[in-house]
Amino acid sequence: MTALERIEAVVSLHAALDRTVSPSERPFDEGALPPVTSEFVELPAPTPLPARDFPDILQARRSRYNPAAVALGAVELSNVLHHSLVSSPTAGGIRELTVLMVVTQPSDPLGVGVYRYAPDRAEAVRLGDVREHLRASLLQPEFVDVFPVLLFVVADAEAPLEKYAMRHYRTMHVDAGVLVQNLYLVTEAMGLVGCAIAGFTDARVASLLNLATTQLPVMAFALGRPG
Ligand SMILES: Cc1cc2nc3c(=O)[nH]c(=O)nc-3n(C[C@H](O)[C@H](O)[C@H](O)COP(=O)(O)O)c2cc1C
Repeated sequence: MTALERIEAVVSLHAALDRTVSPSERPFDEGALPPVTSEFVELPAPTPLPARDFPDILQARRSRYNPAAVALGAVELSNVLHHSLVSSPTAGGIRELTVLMVVTQPSDPLGVGVYRYAPDRAEAVRLGDVREHLRASLLQPEFVDVFPVLLFVVADAEAPLEKYAMRHYRTMHVDAGVLVQNLYLVTEAMGLVGCAIAGFTDARVASLLNLATTQLPVMAFALGRPG
């Protein structure tokens, strides 16, 4: 198999698996999404994590469903993403994962919308209220009404499958799982609350986040301040 054939096979496998999940009955009108944009928002530089004992963090970590009804600051977001990503090992050291953020409660300098995280900045993908599309993408729409930010872990199948066999499709999900555990631990260390989310429709998330065909949504994580 050529690299291109491997990539195409994995993309169609991912889509076939997605079709085994019934999407939400809420309508998803792609034409009503805010337009795609390409603006940059500078993020605050990350700061060191609070000094807390690792055993305490590990034992305290939980999935939380009742955050405070307040926005998340850009400093907190920058810290969660920086510390979670830099400390995540990946198969072959390939950095195929990116994180996209859907901000539903604005906090300067991040207005509501969809952003792609880059180490020092957020690249706006769509600016505007996407809550109805987000609800229609999730199997538990209530996450949208309580959490100010939802993160999506996206795996780009192109780079790893140029190097590895199709079986690497599995490893991409292990990489995503490692990152999700770090998101949980860093969230806990920072005194924030979060919850992993696997219940979503890939096709709708891909439209919402304006993903390329080879960019596969693999996990989500809701993030907020404690209630
Ligand atoms: C890979 C993964 C996917 C998950 N997906 C969801 C989800 O879609 N919805 C949800 O409410 N919780 C989800 N969770 C949270 C689990 O339900 C939770 O971790 C589990 O019940 C154990 O609780 P704890 O995290 O508080 O220890 C997920 C957790 C993991 C690790």
